[in-house]
Amino acid sequence: MSTEQNASKMWSGRFREPLDPTFESWQRSFPFDYRLLPQEVAASKAHARAIAAAGILTEPELTTMLEGLDQVLSQTTLTPAVVAEAPEAEDIHHFTELQLTKIIGNLALKLHTGRSRNEQIATNMRLFVREAIDTTLQGLKNWREALLDLAARSEENVMPSYTHLQRAEPVLVAHWLLAYVAMIDRDASRLTDARKRMNLCPLGSGAVAGATLALDRTIASRALGFDAPTPNSMDATSDRDFALDFTQAVATLGIHISRFAEELTLYSTAEFGFLDLPERFSTGSSAMPQKKNPDLTELIRGKSGRLIGASTTLAVLIKGLPLAYNKDLQEGQEPVFDAADTIAGILSVLPDFTSSLRFRYDCMQAAAETGYLNAMAAATYLSNKGVPFRKAHEIIGNAVRHALETHRELNDLTLDELQTFSEAFAKDFFKAITLEATLDCHDVIGGTARTRVAEALTAARAKGGTA
Ligand code: ARG
Repeated sequence: MSTEQNASKMWSGRFREPLDPTFESWQRSFPFDYRLLPQEVAASKAHARAIAAAGILTEPELTTMLEGLDQVLSQTTLTPAVVAEAPEAEDIHHFTELQLTKIIGNLALKLHTGRSRNEQIATNMRLFVREAIDTTLQGLKNWREALLDLAARSEENVMPSYTHLQRAEPVLVAHWLLAYVAMIDRDASRLTDARKRMNLCPLGSGAVAGATLALDRTIASRALGFDAPTPNSMDATSDRDFALDFTQAVATLGIHISRFAEELTLYSTAEFGFLDLPERFSTGSSAMPQKKNPDLTELIRGKSGRLIGASTTLAVLIKGLPLAYNKDLQEGQEPVFDAADTIAGILSVLPDFTSSLRFRYDCMQAAAETGYLNAMAAATYLSNKGVPFRKAHEIIGNAVRHALETHRELNDLTLDELQTFSEAFAKDFFKAITLEATLDCHDVIGGTARTRVAEALTAARAKGGTA
């Protein structure tokens, strides 16, 4: 005889002793899996259709059950407070069954025929991740558009590019922004790829070895918009690759966003002076009246750490698990939720923030015109005159040294001075090292020549979307 306390559980029959109350509340997943109610209801409706087709439910019973499940969803608003008041529910599966029983009575107890919570949680999580991928892709699309607009608005304005955080060569501002579009396109392809791979339905896998009813698994799969049923019940009930794929893809996306955030944080300093932070997205200091702080970009940089954390938590959680389901997997839900919430939050502010950026093109251009950023173009000039590049590099190095010592730029040197370093210098040298020429000599696919960047912008726009 089971105890009164255990009687409300989904597994009371075999037990004689009540659960330790502290253990009982500690092991519940309802405090966090309550947010899977829409997925739980959808998966339960799909399962109800499958067992009806197998003859477990009559047509009227199926109708009652489907309507009952809809009511569970429409009548329940799950908040942490509501969850706290439902201590009898162990998890979202248990809660839904209890609610359904209140609405349609004992018929509800037939719903669990031929299924297990192991396949249910695997299904719910797939549905959750699939939606999170779609939301993330939409957010990415918005950010991509904001970057493209910003790139178009920047016209032919220039800035220094950096290697080792030392000024390297001038680039178009648009070229720099398009670097992030290239990252976004890889992020989107990773997410789209993950979505395709995960779109299989675990329902019918049972607890581990497959359903004990001759279910037509394609019924539930189709009802939930999956492409097909999963091919192996042991894998399906313990696989969380889809969650790993999602959190890892989002961690990589977070790394990209964090680099963007870091660059803007840096560029907004007085030392760089490349942009004015939009006031709408900045905060002041309670102590120092003059401050305008880049909280948005700093928070994004910080939150990207959480994304990496979520993917690491999942990887470590799964790596030691023998097949098939283990309760450890319950711990895999929160990192997925956190990653989905964190990236959704970031992408809710990032596109508008990006659109409102205003660059100080004059400061960017001044920085691009000082510090010998045309030295490589200068060496290329000599190599075009037949000087071997290694030699040309050396000659320009000497010219730079001379210019440094006399506090000038390369274009301030006279032809006579230049010719003391090499006979190959001629009058046309000065035309070859203007800002425009320095940009345009990078005339390759993916280079910063003005025509190439215009083409790249058009191609990125034409490609559209993020998939
Ligand atoms: N709350 C559980 C989880 O998230 C549901 C599956 C429970 N299965 C079991 N065999 N105890 O993993």
